[in-house]
Amino acid sequence: MGDLVRVTAPLHHRPIAKICASWFHSVKLYALLCRPNRRIEIMSVVDGMRSARSSLASGQAGLKPEDRLLDVGCGSLRGGIHFVRYLNDGHYYGFDIDQRLLGAGRRELAKAGLGDRRLTLLADDAFRFAKFNQQFDYALAQSVFTHLPFNVIMRCLAEIEDALVVGGRFYATFFRNPGRRLNIEPYRASDEITAFADSDPFFYDPDIFRWAVDGSSLEYELIGEWNHPRNQQMLKFTKMNGAG
Ligand SMILES: C[S@@+](CC[C@H](N)C(=O)[O-])C[C@H]1O[C@@H](n2cnc3c(N)ncnc32)[C@H](O)[C@@H]1O
Repeated sequence: MGDLVRVTAPLHHRPIAKICASWFHSVKLYALLCRPNRRIEIMSVVDGMRSARSSLASGQAGLKPEDRLLDVGCGSLRGGIHFVRYLNDGHYYGFDIDQRLLGAGRRELAKAGLGDRRLTLLADDAFRFAKFNQQFDYALAQSVFTHLPFNVIMRCLAEIEDALVVGGRFYATFFRNPGRRLNIEPYRASDEITAFADSDPFFYDPDIFRWAVDGSSLEYELIGEWNHPRNQQMLKFTKMNGAG
């Protein structure tokens, strides 16, 4: 699992996978509150959460409180709330295409007792991260590429290349094409999600991401399975010093 794998972590370094697991907790709560009759669905999410926890012993990316994190497609801060709590004040930057979701996120933060935390939220329709006037140690796009056509992902990667500090990392999840490259058969990614070659939610062949950053200063790595409850796989892009 690339450098998500490190068994002994300094206590003050919080595994990024651990924070991601909190998302699964939020998803479980969402399923519980919003879909009370879907017990099977809930259980599959809970199981995913358990496996994610068991992989925590070996999973960590070393996000430190002093790092600056860009949460791409942060939505209503379902996961962001855990990062806001963990990171130093002002070090969380949320980005989404939908301004209303960011407003909902601020309300969620207030409900969680984090209303006094400083954070920056930005709505934009073309990944213009430069508007933050800030470079980032980490960036994350959880369940975002799964909804985007590939040319839009290309724009995101192009902007990420400028947004990361050298050595910075961008983690992104996606549904993996289970067949040959020209597979166009819908793919049952989990009990509740079918992914498609050409409509939302999309699946992709991982090599397309390698191709996308070839010749850029982003280095591609497929982390792959990480016990996501809906079987999304993980990509990692590391900003290098100069084009590869
Ligand atoms: C499934 S939600 C994931 C939210 C959050 N990352 C999480 O895991 O809880 C996908 C998010 O991506 C956002 N999104 C979709 N297209 C986008 C784009 N072009 N630019 C920025 N955000 C986008 C949506 O508005 C939505 O909030």
